Amino acid sequence: MPERSPADDAPQRVCASADLPERGRAALFDLLEHGEPMRAFALRIDGTARAYLNRCAHVPMELDWTPGEFLDAEREFIICSTHGAVYAPATGHCLGGPCGRGHLTPVDVVERAGVVWWLPSASLKPLPPLPPAPPPETTQR
Ligand code: FES
Repeated sequence: MPERSPADDAPQRVCASADLPERGRAALFDLLEHGEPMRAFALRIDGTARAYLNRCAHVPMELDWTPGEFLDAEREFIICSTHGAVYAPATGHCLGGPCGRGHLTPVDVVERAGVVWWLPSASLKPLPPLPPAPPPETTQR
């Protein structure tokens, strides 16, 4: 089992609060779910930032019809672009369609000092840091 670092449990930046308009385009971010890469999204619903894994409860496919667009035309519900499952944006519960009694997987988020952060959990962890960039090539004359 890989070693855990304290950074694995630290809040992770999603975006500036100002970049998450009410029922607007979502902010996308990446994380690990049980060690596997997964995309997630954050939306502002009734003034509160909410986040879920970008995975339909019907079939494990991404929901958005174009990156960051999760809401229906009336900006009322999250809708899966593949087969039309409809979810309550404040809870992630399925309201109709092939998702049955399913629900989206929530990601805990908080807003502090004008920034939206997601909170790691036992199953959701940040991606490992990128390796350092290689040194610039030197040209010899
Ligand atoms: S994959 Fe989302 S409704 Fe079927």
